[in-house]
Amino acid sequence: MNSLDNLREVMRRDRVFDFMLQTTGLEVDLSHGTILYLEDISVSFDGFKAINDLNLYIDAGELRCIIGPNGAGKTTMMDIITGKTRPDKGSAFFGQNINLMQLSEPEIAQAGIGRKFQKPTVFESHTVFENLELSMAGDKRIWPTLTAQLNGIQRDKIDEVLEIIALQEQRNLYAGALSHGQKQWLEIGMLLMQSPKLLLVDEPVAGMTHQEMDRTAELLTSLAGTHTVVVVEHDMDFVRSIARKVTVLHQGSVLAEGSMDEVQADPRVIEVYLGE
Ligand SMILES: Nc1ncnc2c1ncn2[C@@H]1O[C@H](COP(=O)(O)OP(=O)(O)O)[C@@H](O)[C@H]1O
Ligand SMILES: [Mg+2]
Repeated sequence: MNSLDNLREVMRRDRVFDFMLQTTGLEVDLSHGTILYLEDISVSFDGFKAINDLNLYIDAGELRCIIGPNGAGKTTMMDIITGKTRPDKGSAFFGQNINLMQLSEPEIAQAGIGRKFQKPTVFESHTVFENLELSMAGDKRIWPTLTAQLNGIQRDKIDEVLEIIALQEQRNLYAGALSHGQKQWLEIGMLLMQSPKLLLVDEPVAGMTHQEMDRTAELLTSLAGTHTVVVVEHDMDFVRSIARKVTVLHQGSVLAEGSMDEVQADPRVIEVYLGE
């Protein structure tokens, strides 16, 4: 790959790097133990209410699973949290102090909310190590990193993330040579390089083998505590394997919330899933 291609890939529009952003300087205030507040949120698309008076609270350090039939509004909810979609009404706060409605999409990412989309978007013609290097947050700038030496702290951070995502042995492989599951973990690693406080993960195990699903369960479980993780997932076996508290969305609102056993025994939840 020539350097112009490299540059094009680095500057892809669907990626936001910290060096492009103004520092908002806002540190999220978690003193009340709640990292995300969504209150009375509604959004309509062409008159159809995709989100309807949604109220959702996520504790700092939680691993929360969000389930619900197709069209329930799960992805739209993530779009609202990340600033991709603006609600018609309601409020969204990150911690006590950060009003997400007042921030742009890149500012929300910068404030500490990372999102992993369904389809992995790693840089296939860069190595695993380089992918992590390219997504590093902090004062390091992208241009020097392509040529200059990394400092020890930066190297340690990459090593730490390689260990979390269990790709140490693949560090010098091109990302394009990874399995589907490994690409998903690499992308989670790329998010972790930005040290997000809140990670939103949309259908992480779609297309994975059982072994990859087990490894993903371990990975997401290990991130909880030091991070807050919100997982939207369709695969019920997977949700059961990681779930603590589960929220069921239906027609843009919370239908039920509780342990996996509680929500699965809830007649309203059963009815909604039978109707799918
Ligand atoms: N940009 C959009 N324009 C029009 N309709 C949309 C848009 N985004 C989502 N919807 C509709 O909103 C509803 C909720 O969609 P979505 O949030 O993707 O559900 P889920 O992720 O739970 O399957 C669906 O009926 C979908 O067709
Ligand atoms: Mg969806």
